[in-house]
Amino acid sequence: MSNSDFNPRDSFGSKFGIIAAAAGSAVGLGNIWKFPYVAGQNGGGAFLVVYLLFILAIGLPVMLSEFSIGRRAQRNAIGSFKKLGPGTPWYLVGVMGVAAAFLILSFYSAVAGWTLEYITKSVTNAFAERDENELNQMFVSFISGTWRPLFWQLMFMALTAWIVAAGIKKGIEKYTKVLMPLLVIMIVVLCVRSVTLPGAIEGLSFLFKPDFSALSADAVLSALGQAFFSLSLGMGTLITYGSYIRKNDNLSGTVIQVSAADTIIAIMAGVAIFPAVFAFGIDPAEGPGLVFITLPNIFQQMPGGYFFALVFFILLSVAALTSSISVLEVVVAYMVEELNLARKRATVLATVMISVLGVFCTLSFGVMSDVSLFGMVFFDLMDFTASNLLLPLGGCLIVLFVGWYLGPGPSRREISNEGEIKLGYFPVFMFLVKFVAPFAITLVFIYGLGLMRL
Ligand code: PHE
Repeated sequence: MSNSDFNPRDSFGSKFGIIAAAAGSAVGLGNIWKFPYVAGQNGGGAFLVVYLLFILAIGLPVMLSEFSIGRRAQRNAIGSFKKLGPGTPWYLVGVMGVAAAFLILSFYSAVAGWTLEYITKSVTNAFAERDENELNQMFVSFISGTWRPLFWQLMFMALTAWIVAAGIKKGIEKYTKVLMPLLVIMIVVLCVRSVTLPGAIEGLSFLFKPDFSALSADAVLSALGQAFFSLSLGMGTLITYGSYIRKNDNLSGTVIQVSAADTIIAIMAGVAIFPAVFAFGIDPAEGPGLVFITLPNIFQQMPGGYFFALVFFILLSVAALTSSISVLEVVVAYMVEELNLARKRATVLATVMISVLGVFCTLSFGVMSDVSLFGMVFFDLMDFTASNLLLPLGGCLIVLFVGWYLGPGPSRREISNEGEIKLGYFPVFMFLVKFVAPFAITLVFIYGLGLMRL
């Protein structure tokens, strides 16, 4: 018997609590750091169009599937499959999810550590009077170091662990409710400053004028990976969170609100970044440093920039934290419920193991920068394997599980709260999970991984 059979399970305390927690998971570095840099590397507008299509046709149905699996089973990512598909190998989808959680947090904590360093840089007014070359230099010399980036990464892991150890309700809800709306306000301010810079228009057309001739199969795979990563899909985060959603809450409403918030914030981050990128003559394909070089540049050009930079990097770290706790929770919920470990012990164990992997990610910008596998340094290898391979593959298996294994009966009952809510769109959902999403993911894999050429 697992722990959960003895203790009533923890659950989110209010309707806004679930939305805040799920949106807190979705909105993070994926929107503000990764979306602009991946869009910048993959041609801008055309990437955005494909990304939006994937959110609609794949992201929404996968998210609803995850919530319904978790809430029906009332278990963690692995336990949920064991309970709903007893005696079948479906639980391996959960195992893959837990593995993905390790990889994601290893590089996520590296970047989150950068945001902590940038808080201290804001405090000391380090960006003042510097041009883009100097800001670039500042970023590169920081990430290629050893102790400073490692220190911040481990600090960030410790913060994450501290909140997860406290448990879902006390930890996660509290932080998200107030700080997320504040972050949105800050991004709006940044957008206004960015689009009013001289030369801004070029950045807007880069983001909003698709040039499909520039779209490679590789870019399409990146768009798929980014859709999964940004919405926190494919590894059981939202199965785990779904298991904390109360039975009378509306799952599909939550899916729409969370996905809309996530997507709007990613696009807003693009609107804040690209006009400035073009105005300052920064390369849009700059890579992981893009926002860390561009944003300080914008702050310098605005009245009160010192204050805005400081508040912004604090909020960005909090956004990263509400995402990283949802990743760690996947591993911890599994260890607590399936391996019967105490919550604190499970948290420490998972944190130590992930931090070890994380050290290699951070060092891959410095002393280990010439160690590569498949042409990627460790950081990129973790990101590529998790975001572009494990998450879409996990998502594909999740919709197949709902569409073909569970079938419409149990799914309809769960999503409609046992018939309480009318589901006019249900046939569309079934069609998407049975056919469209699995087919599209398979196709993107075949071309994106170069198994076949167009
Ligand atoms: N969605 C988060 C972000 O955009 C990252 C994340 C990925 C969280 C996968 C949970 C699971 O920052």
